[in-house]
Amino acid sequence: MKTVLQTNFNGIDGLTITDTAKPVLTDNGVLIKMAVLPISPTDWKLESDTHATDEQQDKLPRIIGFQGTGTVVSVGKNRDQSLLDQRVLVINPAGVYSEFVLNENPDWMYPLPANVSDESAAALSAGTAWTLKQQIDQSKAANIVITGANSVIGLTLLQMLADESRPIYPIVTAASKPYFIEQMPRLTPYTLDEHPTISGSSIVLDIVGRLDMLTTLEKQLSQPEIVSIALMQAPTLNNFIFVHDEFNADRYRLFIKQLSEGKLTALINRIFPIEQVKKAQHFAKETHSRGRVLVTFGH
Ligand SMILES: NC(=O)c1ccc[n+]([C@@H]2O[C@H](COP(=O)([O-])OP(=O)(O)OC[C@H]3O[C@@H](n4cnc5c(N)ncnc54)[C@H](OP(=O)(O)O)[C@@H]3O)[C@@H](O)[C@H]2O)c1
Repeated sequence: MKTVLQTNFNGIDGLTITDTAKPVLTDNGVLIKMAVLPISPTDWKLESDTHATDEQQDKLPRIIGFQGTGTVVSVGKNRDQSLLDQRVLVINPAGVYSEFVLNENPDWMYPLPANVSDESAAALSAGTAWTLKQQIDQSKAANIVITGANSVIGLTLLQMLADESRPIYPIVTAASKPYFIEQMPRLTPYTLDEHPTISGSSIVLDIVGRLDMLTTLEKQLSQPEIVSIALMQAPTLNNFIFVHDEFNADRYRLFIKQLSEGKLTALINRIFPIEQVKKAQHFAKETHSRGRVLVTFGH
């Protein structure tokens, strides 16, 4: 079966599309024929590291990807037999960019309602947005500033902040302003240079991960709390934390329900065939964010 492997740390162009053995169904397993897989900045970050340690090298080769959608084609005898033929979102830390994925953990697989497409579920990026929302909810800051607000995670977070009463200041690049306005007409986006006058305390949710940008914002704002999902360390900033998505199965179930009820909308950009996975990753990396870029096995 077709599989996308990372065998080195040479970046996107170092990926290999190869043939591997189809997983064998186990009694506790469910075999899924994969349909749609997302691409995110985390992919190309994991694929390139010129200073990779021996320990990191030892983890290769690995199948890329963390989540994707597909259809259950066979069910082990210890699993719910009604899963057969169901479309599902599957999470697999051991990789999902394979024609077939074996799921042995029911908490890592979610049947999709009829009105949730494979593309929408594959594009779901709500876990990290939810983590940022928790930080906002816990903060007493008077203002909310979001860098990279047009990103997939930024726009997902903003959907979750629909009832937020504090002022929100979305920071975007000049090129992404029209797209942001189209997506979130009720909010006014700013570029870093425009820095609106913000009085009172602020929390900055950083989705971009540029220290220079955060240093500028720290000077513009009055001692902001800075919470980043993209920069792990920033010793020069005064009130900085890095947060990451803690996987939670019940939250995934909730997000799928919210997709089905129209309370969350997936953001989808272009869709590429699996054979063009490198082109797809380059496209995602080298163009402004206009939704999730997806790859399809095209069955
Ligand atoms: N901590 C965690 O648990 C976790 C989990 C998942 C993802 N992440 C990280 O979260 C970040 C966002 O992910 P995503 O999928 O939402 O990404 P995305 O949709 O590709 O968006 C990236 C954002 O960064 C902006 N950006 C990139 N380079 C920039 C630059 N030089 N100057 C200003 N803005 C720049 C982009 O602006 P334009 O579109 O205008 O170019 C866009 O708003 C990634 O770094 C990803 O690795 C963290």
